[in-house]
Amino acid sequence: VCHKQNSSTQTVLTAPACLLLQVQLRDFKGQPKRYGGDFLLARLHSPKYRAGVAGQVLDHENGLYSVRFPLLWQGSAQFNVMMVHSSEAATVLRRLREKRPDRVFFASIFRHGRHSEKTLCNMCLPPDKGPLCNYTDLHYGEQWYCYKPKGLGCDTRYNHFIEGYAENLITKKEALLFQRFVSRQKLDPVKLATSGYYYQDSWRPLGGVPMRQFNKASAITQCLTNKLVYMYGDSTLRQWFKYLLTKVQKPGPFMAVDVTHNILLNYRFHGLPLRIMPVMINELRYIANELDGLTGGPNTVVTLGIWAHFSTFPVEVYIQRIRHIRKAVVRLLDRSPEIVVVVRTANPQALNEVESLFKSDWVTLQQDIVLRAMFKGINVMWVDAWQMCLAHREPHDVHPPMSLHFDG
Ligand SMILES: *[C@@H]1O[C@H](CO)[C@@H](O)[C@H](O)[C@H]1NC(C)=O
Repeated sequence: VCHKQNSSTQTVLTAPACLLLQVQLRDFKGQPKRYGGDFLLARLHSPKYRAGVAGQVLDHENGLYSVRFPLLWQGSAQFNVMMVHSSEAATVLRRLREKRPDRVFFASIFRHGRHSEKTLCNMCLPPDKGPLCNYTDLHYGEQWYCYKPKGLGCDTRYNHFIEGYAENLITKKEALLFQRFVSRQKLDPVKLATSGYYYQDSWRPLGGVPMRQFNKASAITQCLTNKLVYMYGDSTLRQWFKYLLTKVQKPGPFMAVDVTHNILLNYRFHGLPLRIMPVMINELRYIANELDGLTGGPNTVVTLGIWAHFSTFPVEVYIQRIRHIRKAVVRLLDRSPEIVVVVRTANPQALNEVESLFKSDWVTLQQDIVLRAMFKGINVMWVDAWQMCLAHREPHDVHPPMSLHFDG
């Protein structure tokens, strides 16, 4: 039992027993490492019970790590501890995050009549390479710029898309740090309390969170009857929309209506930055502005999921975006306290050497900590996708696979 026990039996009963591992990391030569910052993920699981829980990793900053697993079900169990990035690799990732927000190329087509031009766009662009068009959001000040097309005005911007990824971002020596299966900078101390675990493939939240299972399409429909559901975020939130569509409604692009049951489902991307195929400019809105336009009411549900597209920018960019969304959420809850706001956290992705330079789990987890801290004390509900994915037996994936155990 690895929580501090005191003599009162009540404490012992409420805090579950746990398994505490000590992990010593060694360098390439087999010598114990003497500093911390390595990025570890851990999982305790029992295939027999289709059960799993994420471990908490504590960095002692001397090459030793404690991994704590709460013991939440009976029977045998096994654990995995995975080093996603060494502290040396994390140093490279931090440098890229802070210094190379230009490592993904975004572009827009400008169009007027028969004439069209393409220029590069980003949250910031070096001004010495030509005149800029300034698309900064007037309300919240979210910045976005494109180079001005030579023969067209800034108001002829037609679409937005990802043009490509920068190459040669790291040295050959640094690349060795990202080799898989062989394979720094300190991760800001993370202590995410265990939010739940899987048992018989069902997520069981801890801490008194009520949990209802909807195992049939009819039950989902009943729950959503008379509801307006607004989903704002990236493609990991769009998965929810798609999921509900397959269960409740026929597919539709961004909006779905079930007239019989009076259900409206709405999905919208979170605005720039977006690493996506061409999207029309007039489809792009910032979430805070959208929330400001909602009336609210007891039948409104708002779901938010914003993380994946911010991984190539300094963490301040993410903080600013969440600050604006948070402000809009607080105002929304003030005008309409009965609204349900659900926030989906990020999830681990299992990335290869090249992908890691653009969207590593290391960066994601730090954003996730920011997200949780910034919504603390606000009346929102959480879907802890990070721990759910860590706990689950399915491999990590940016788009976690749909449950196979749905009998609707
Ligand atoms: C872009 O426009 C915003 C809002 O009008 C302004 O605050 C900002 O300074 C402008 N940026 C540049 C580089 O001119």
